Amino acid sequence: TIFRGIFMHILAAVCSFRKLFTISATRSVNSGSFFEEMTVDDVMFFLRWEFPMVSHWASVKDTSSASKSAASLEHPKPRYCVGENLDLLVEMRDHKGQLKRHGGDFILAWIHSPKLQASAAGLVTDLHNGSYRVRFTLFWPGEVKVSMLLMHPSEAVQALWRSRHPKYKKIKHTGTFVNGTKVEKSECEFHLDTNHPLCEYKDERDGEYYSCYKPPSLSCDTIDIMTSANTPGSLLTTDEQLLLTSLCNLPEFTLVSSSCSNLKPTGKCIPGMKPLIPSGHFFKNVWYSSYCETGSFFSAESINSCLKGKRFYFMGDSTVHQWMQYLRKFQKGNYGSLQMIIHTEQDANYTALWKHHNFPWITKNKVRVKMAQYISRDLDSLEVEREEAVVVISVGQHFRAYSLEVFVRRLLNLRKAILRLQARSPGTWIFIKLENTRELSSEQERFSDWHGHIQNLAQRKVFGDLKVGFVDAWDMTVAANTFAIHPKEHIVANEVAVFLSYLCRAP
Ligand SMILES: *[C@@H]1O[C@H](CO)[C@@H](O)[C@H](O)[C@H]1NC(C)=O
Ligand SMILES: *[C@@H]1O[C@H](CO)[C@@H](O)[C@H](O)[C@H]1NC(C)=O
Ligand SMILES: *[C@@H]1O[C@H](CO)[C@@H](O)[C@H](O)[C@H]1NC(C)=O
Repeated sequence: TIFRGIFMHILAAVCSFRKLFTISATRSVNSGSFFEEMTVDDVMFFLRWEFPMVSHWASVKDTSSASKSAASLEHPKPRYCVGENLDLLVEMRDHKGQLKRHGGDFILAWIHSPKLQASAAGLVTDLHNGSYRVRFTLFWPGEVKVSMLLMHPSEAVQALWRSRHPKYKKIKHTGTFVNGTKVEKSECEFHLDTNHPLCEYKDERDGEYYSCYKPPSLSCDTIDIMTSANTPGSLLTTDEQLLLTSLCNLPEFTLVSSSCSNLKPTGKCIPGMKPLIPSGHFFKNVWYSSYCETGSFFSAESINSCLKGKRFYFMGDSTVHQWMQYLRKFQKGNYGSLQMIIHTEQDANYTALWKHHNFPWITKNKVRVKMAQYISRDLDSLEVEREEAVVVISVGQHFRAYSLEVFVRRLLNLRKAILRLQARSPGTWIFIKLENTRELSSEQERFSDWHGHIQNLAQRKVFGDLKVGFVDAWDMTVAANTFAIHPKEHIVANEVAVFLSYLCRAP
């Protein structure tokens, strides 16, 4: 069969808030030779290519414009086969139509065939000269649409990066101290003015720290709950804020991919596999990993037989709490309301506990800090002798509003704790669930997906050479174009199916 490639050159790009999609820049597969004692500076040095260069611009007209920019196929061919790569070159221009000469734009890209419920994210590489290579893998035959979204022009990314400086406070945390009927409140932060008396909450070994202003009469030990609120105002200029509110689609393409070749077969999913990008694709709404065999763990029977006899520790944020909520649907019986701190599931002969990570926690709800400790400490105290223990760690969303160093330090402490746990208990399974994308309506200065993108790069760097399993929720949510901090159930179901594909033989 002959298939035509239909190359529709840039009809004017559409600028809007349409949900379109992608993946991000050079998530390079790491070379693995980073020493065990990686430092915060090592990781920051590795990420430096992702940080925007400082460029000066006088008017919004000088900034990157999706509608003025062009994308073309790098090596046009008469036909495209399943399993092959598809490379596009995006040449960025400003609003005056002039070629940009530096990189730093944040672009997400994906291919999709809505009728087949098929989609996959693309890998965007910044060539640092105003051009970007966007690489897709053609995973299925049929008409394939290419969509790319300029999430932020480089000038907005630069502003985001500037505002991530440790001295800027974007979230205000309030601690409530309680003893008997007495209640007092005070502000809590990573760095408070040390001229006031402070309650300092430190983990000396790990260099983790936050503090609260000492309440008028209650002792520091009486801290009970914490709430947070966005600080008013913005650290950005009016023009920068304006740039952050616009989203533009780059030109779309359509082409046909044919089954003139096949995808390479993959083997069992095992911890320590290098997670490729793209990490897989959806077909009929089911996710298939690009580097190992994902089983169809969607029925109560296949799920429960895999969970049986194991003890699960879901640690981190609400996106991994969603896994537990989803798994509970397959159990009979009533388990009461979900607890924010710990939940145990014993009737189905497996145990699942969820524990939120320590400060910072961004929520309007009250979070108990009394029971909070760092995940690294939790891992140190796991009793793993008796049962088959499975740990899933999910961190990131609550860190987007703080300096990147804070997040990297947390990751490095997790890395050390994982290595200690694996030395003590080589049979314990450990998984890293990467951050997924979130609402485009999220307040961008604090919560932009660019922050999530950088943080995922940091996670790949810090955990990439360990014997852990990755669940690349970023890739899945970019491919599925979800933009939801709590993805819908079919996404969660696929995340869990990837996870179970490591633990059990495919049903
Ligand atoms: C940027 O670099 C790439 C790769 O070296 C090259 O193909 C492309 O033409 C360059 N773009 C510009 C605008 O110079
Ligand atoms: C709470 O108040 C009681 C009575 O004043 C006091 O004895 C106790 O030490 C306080 N608890 C803490 C944790 O400060
Ligand atoms: C759990 O295990 C016990 C003992 O092995 C068994 O009697 C019971 O039926 C199991 N329950 C479920 C729900 O599988």
